[in-house]
Amino acid sequence: MWDSEFLLRVLWLVVCQAAAGSWSQANITSMLAPQADRVMVLGEWEERWQADRIGFHQPQVHKMLESNIDKVLAGRTGVRFFFPLCGKAVDMKWLADMGHSVVGVEISEKAVKQFFEENNMTYSEEPVPAIPGAKVYKSSERNISLYQCDLYNFSSSIEGEFGAIWDRGSLVAINPRDREKYAALIMSLMAKDCRYLLDTLLYNPELYTGPPFFVPDEQVHSLFGNSCDMELLQSVDALTDRHRAWGLDYLTENVHLITPKSV
Ligand SMILES: C[S@@+](CC[C@H](N)C(=O)[O-])C[C@H]1O[C@@H](n2cnc3c(N)ncnc32)[C@H](O)[C@@H]1O
Ligand SMILES: *[C@@H]1O[C@H](CO)[C@@H](O)[C@H](O)[C@H]1NC(C)=O
Ligand SMILES: *[C@@H]1O[C@H](CO)[C@@H](O)[C@H](O)[C@H]1NC(C)=O
Ligand SMILES: *[C@@H]1O[C@H](CO)[C@@H](O)[C@H](O)[C@H]1NC(C)=O
Ligand SMILES: *[C@@H]1O[C@H](CO)[C@@H](O)[C@H](O)[C@H]1NC(C)=O
Repeated sequence: MWDSEFLLRVLWLVVCQAAAGSWSQANITSMLAPQADRVMVLGEWEERWQADRIGFHQPQVHKMLESNIDKVLAGRTGVRFFFPLCGKAVDMKWLADMGHSVVGVEISEKAVKQFFEENNMTYSEEPVPAIPGAKVYKSSERNISLYQCDLYNFSSSIEGEFGAIWDRGSLVAINPRDREKYAALIMSLMAKDCRYLLDTLLYNPELYTGPPFFVPDEQVHSLFGNSCDMELLQSVDALTDRHRAWGLDYLTENVHLITPKSV
């Protein structure tokens, strides 16, 4: 029989774990407080594209995608990649040139058109019946389809599930209060063998309002940890003069590999 001392010990452990759980949740909430209520409406992103205020765009393939690509592919060929909030990231062409397929979602039509034009690709343009107002732009030469719509109008019923996701300038760009909704959408787009590469930024949120927003590792775990395993692949000092001009004194860029738990 179980003695009462053993039962008390078990009970104590359960209480401690529950307390630690809610306490770390409280700590995450306090870390996020400075940016919690910051909201960018879609029109503000379009204004940035119209004014060419797109400092986030990089003319080269992202270093941290390049250095971790083997871990994302894990030996697979012809992988279907999803790019949430894709902008005109040249990473999409890089992957398609290697024989992978790319589906991106981006609200700005200017960004989508510039992607194809700057990469010398011809494309077709058609409406998306399942999403009123949305259009899909498809490359004629490569497997690249870019949906011009609000990300939250996209779902697995449009393009199925994906074998990989490259999330750069996306979780860090959406409004902080939408993170749970965003994580649920991303998880619904992950195939069982999906390998999700997530780029996050760590800095003092008291010094800059964002975007990009500060997303601590603790929150990455609380957003995805219930159904996914995760590994911090890389953590680099990313502070440049652009960020010093924002008032930042440090900036760390982290890359996480997130995979569905195999139950
Ligand atoms: C910070 S940029 C990053 C773009 C790209 N991932 C990159 O790394 O260059 C964020 C992009 O998301 C787009 N965007 C913001 N909110 C969106 C939403 N709810 N649905 C679709 N696109 C959105 C913006 O127009 C912008 O191009
Ligand atoms: C709680 O958050 C602060 C920053 O707000 C951090 O310095 C501290 O290490 C955190 N404590 C734990 C136990 O995570
Ligand atoms: C697209 O074509 C122009 C003109 O021929 C060329 O200058 C440019 O380098 C090309 N861009 C790419 C990404 O190949
Ligand atoms: C698109 O998303 C907006 C806000 O997230 C919602 O109000 C609207 O109903 C959605 N439209 C479609 C066609 O799903
Ligand atoms: C596009 O993807 C399909 C299916 O994976 C493949 O058969 C086809 O060869 C690809 N086309 C190009 C241009 O890569």
